[in-house]
Amino acid sequence: MNTSETIKALRKQWGKKLFILGHYYQQDEVLQHVDVTGDSLELSRRAAAEREAERIVFCGVHFMAESAGILSSPHQAIYMPDIHAGCPMADMAPLREVQQVWKELQAVATSWVPIVYVNSSAAVKAFCGEHGGSTCTSSNAVKVFQWVLGQGKRILFIPDEHLGANTARDLGLPDEAVAVYDPGKKWGGVGVDGITRAQVLVWKGYCHVHTFAVDDITSARQRYPGAKIIVHPETPAAAARLADEHGSTSQIIRYVAAAPAGTTVVIGTEFHLVDRLARQHRGRLTIVPLRQSVCRNMILTTEAKLLALLEQWPEEQIVRVSEPLRVNARKALTRMLEVK
Ligand code: 13P
Ligand code: SF4
Repeated sequence: MNTSETIKALRKQWGKKLFILGHYYQQDEVLQHVDVTGDSLELSRRAAAEREAERIVFCGVHFMAESAGILSSPHQAIYMPDIHAGCPMADMAPLREVQQVWKELQAVATSWVPIVYVNSSAAVKAFCGEHGGSTCTSSNAVKVFQWVLGQGKRILFIPDEHLGANTARDLGLPDEAVAVYDPGKKWGGVGVDGITRAQVLVWKGYCHVHTFAVDDITSARQRYPGAKIIVHPETPAAAARLADEHGSTSQIIRYVAAAPAGTTVVIGTEFHLVDRLARQHRGRLTIVPLRQSVCRNMILTTEAKLLALLEQWPEEQIVRVSEPLRVNARKALTRMLEVK
């Protein structure tokens, strides 16, 4: 039997006791073996709802598997085919820096609520849960922001500057209401006045896969006249505002599905998703990447590593979150799942 056949046979043996989740950025050789493919929000929901499986395998990056672990039940173990698949953006907000910044902000005003993008560590999610905040994904950031702003409070958004700025703009907040807080600088580089004025403070973090520039958009417009351009909201605001749309991975998928036949759609997100959409819609749409940009962490998971995991189940590939962190991080994730 080859790799694929062996995985299929093993999955059959495990039946409902095994549940495999995969993010849209994974390679097709991996996604052919998963029970559910989704964006970060959908995968969190499915992990939270799954009660039967004893073993959950997460094909994605570490923060996603950690979220699944936080939302799962004590009888379930979460495994990753490659435990080293991390997210550099999540690493841009270490807990110690978040605690320090929080302390500084309290000296200026007390009306802050931490909103933490799921692309973050369990420790930062726990901090958020402990301080009355919520996590969000790129699919529901608008709703979570509205939940805070509707209470007349201000947002400290961690760790993606661009998702924070794009979401504030989606809500019609003026540019002056948003400030970028650089944790490496005194008072974040914006000063006490800048902090006092801000309704939304966005942490200076980013995803290198989505650093599309204004030039990428203007050259795509020249190269593909009449094309529609959609980018992921981790794209810097200057470029995102020149695109026709921005949206999470699932929103991009829906946008493409609804596009009229004959449309050219230029997509600014991770290449494996763009390439899959191009193949799925071939003959109906022309789909091209804004720039060929690959997440080096997502591709660490391969079919061969998935097989090795299902054959050996090494302890080191279990994603663990300590109980105190789990309790508070769960508060932040649950709040997000409840925000309507
Ligand atoms: P989605 O929530 O849109 O799937 O995005 C996850 C991610 O990591 C994007 O870089
Ligand atoms: Fe992290 Fe960017 Fe990869 Fe998403 S695409 S997992 S934000 S590095």
